[in-house]
Amino acid sequence: MKSEEVIDMKLYIEKDYEQMSKLAAKLIADKVHSKENCVLGLATGSTPIGTYKELIKQYQAGTLSFAKVKTVNLDEYYGLEPEHEQSYAYFMRDNLFNHIDLPQDAFRLPSGTAKNIEEECKDYEKHIEALGGVDLQLLGIGHNGHIGFNEPAASFALYTHQTYLDERTIEANTRFFASKDEVPTQAITMGIGTIMKAGEIILLASGKDKADIIQRLLEGDTVNPMLPASILKLHPHVHVIVDEAAASLLKSCCKSSTCHLH
Ligand code: GLP
Repeated sequence: MKSEEVIDMKLYIEKDYEQMSKLAAKLIADKVHSKENCVLGLATGSTPIGTYKELIKQYQAGTLSFAKVKTVNLDEYYGLEPEHEQSYAYFMRDNLFNHIDLPQDAFRLPSGTAKNIEEECKDYEKHIEALGGVDLQLLGIGHNGHIGFNEPAASFALYTHQTYLDERTIEANTRFFASKDEVPTQAITMGIGTIMKAGEIILLASGKDKADIIQRLLEGDTVNPMLPASILKLHPHVHVIVDEAAASLLKSCCKSSTCHLH
């Protein structure tokens, strides 16, 4: 697939992190407004924090309610209790759930401490199915192209599964822990197949350190499990929202009708 065909993945180049976050929040709010009982797939990492702040602002302004929304998260570290400050369950409460009217029983993350992880993974898939599937999935992207914790691999994983983290991911996530040794080496993550079943997907990237992977994703010519996010080229409804720094290595951005640079 050549970069010109990437037009299907609608590319938005926003001026900065704030504008990127505002646009992502707008698309999410539009979905919540347009679909009753909508199911959101949520992500962690630094990138979506600004989006969550914008959603909280809209809730506080009385223009957005999550009372009928259900959410599922992409992933969780293996071995971390939900009360652990670096668990993704804690992150979601801290950055979003504690500040909006999402009911207590309306969100779920994979459990990193379930006695039987294999059962937990199967049950997570069933849970998503019982909800009617994810309407809108939010994604960040790792420096190596991972989405959720689907690391570069020989093949695309279909379902929620337990996985080892790439050395690069452990290094990148060390900034949240006291030392590298404390970063869990495994995680539970939705599979690529789980992600691809979402009705609509927003992928966010911000900052110069994401410019290389964004260039490889959008201008590379293959769908390849060694760059897991490349599968998104086969999804019919993807918004890629990046800031100018993350877009700085793109050559063909003007081919996108939504490009704001030219
Ligand atoms: C983490 C998460 C991903 C996230 C990515 C990028 O390890 N598992 O879901 O998208 O890495 O994180 P950041 O947004 O902090 O760059």
